[in-house]
Amino acid sequence: MVYTGLVKILLLLPLIVVGCNSQQTPPTSPKPVATGTYENTVLPISKKFCWKCHSGEKPAKGIDLSKYKTQADVEKNTRAWRRAGREVSGNQMPPKSEPQMSDAEKKAFTDYCKALPRSE
Ligand code: HEC
Repeated sequence: MVYTGLVKILLLLPLIVVGCNSQQTPPTSPKPVATGTYENTVLPISKKFCWKCHSGEKPAKGIDLSKYKTQADVEKNTRAWRRAGREVSGNQMPPKSEPQMSDAEKKAFTDYCKALPRSE
């Protein structure tokens, strides 16, 4: 049955082509914690909503968030950031009396914190 063999090949061909194409396309879709997420996304949000109290000479509760300039700084203390994420997702921070994050900002901030590995 040469004919059915040929049909099979013809049916498989688009799949093979699609399969190859998807491998060739550059990875444009963002990974859960993409490189630069902290610097480009989380840091500006932290600066806007947290530094007012969590920076400077006497940061609230001794937590100085302005000392985290890069992802590498965060990786040295993921515990603090996981905690920060929990405060934000539980609507504890920023305090009710302060300007609140938009839903998108809140999601970006908490998603980032949640994805961090645990550390001691
Ligand atoms: C208006 C000042 C103010 C702002 C803005 C603020 N905080 Fe706070 N934060 C405080 C104070 C005061 C405390 C300590 C009192 C308390 O526990 O409620 C605190 C406590 C905390 C704690 C420790 C909570 C605990 O008890 O374990 C974390 C973590 C925290 N803040 C994170 C943040 C983050 C993240 C932001 C920004 C999204 C933020 N805060 C914005 C004033 C602020």
